[in-house]
Amino acid sequence: MIRFVGEMAYRAGLGAQASDEPDSGLVEAVESPLRLAPGHALDLGCGTGRNSIYLGRHSWEVTGVDMVRHAVAAARRNAAVAGATVRLIEGDVTRLEELGIGDGYTLLVDVGCFHMVPVGRRDAYAAGVTRVAAPRALLLMVGFSKLLGMGMTAEELRNRFSGWELVSAAPVPSWEMRRYVRGPAPMKSVLAGGWFEPWRYKLLRTP
Ligand SMILES: C[S@@+](CC[C@H](N)C(=O)[O-])C[C@H]1O[C@@H](n2cnc3c(N)ncnc32)[C@H](O)[C@@H]1O
Repeated sequence: MIRFVGEMAYRAGLGAQASDEPDSGLVEAVESPLRLAPGHALDLGCGTGRNSIYLGRHSWEVTGVDMVRHAVAAARRNAAVAGATVRLIEGDVTRLEELGIGDGYTLLVDVGCFHMVPVGRRDAYAAGVTRVAAPRALLLMVGFSKLLGMGMTAEELRNRFSGWELVSAAPVPSWEMRRYVRGPAPMKSVLAGGWFEPWRYKLLRTP
């Protein structure tokens, strides 16, 4: 059902957060003085590829996964235009074991995906992500805390992601969300207006 709605939304040009600008938390992890050394990165729910492409252009070997065919096709086109090498796979992030993506990922990124995953599939998501992560891997997540009965919170991440330490949780300001949302003004206002309370989380895989 979510996949069907996603296909329709992307086809209608309503792929939310479809700007080209990468997430600022990701930029900090990749470019700050304390940055991670480039390695293998996994972009969960990569959409049209803005974060995967950014990583590919910064010497990361990146795999992006999204369940919406239209989004993956757009990400491939965008990567080609940007000249970025990115492995893009159509698939369900709650079934990573079926996708043959390997393991040893030192950076995992989920911007706007986990908060849409049905509650009944979230343990499978956490187990899959934990299985493919390298020891001391960093998992960056951004999600709405209120999303029509779904959403995600720090408390949920602490409880659901065993083998990980939640090292930070901070709200994402509306002015920043506005930069990421391309589309008509009403959509910007709804997504960036703070109604859904976006938060950014950092988790570290404990060895
Ligand atoms: C709000 S968009 C964000 C896209 C991208 N991460 C970005 O920041 O531009 C969320 C994406 O997650 C994908 N998604 C949601 N549930 C998924 C699942 N179970 N497996 C794979 N992709 C999923 C959707 O298709 C959508 O492209």
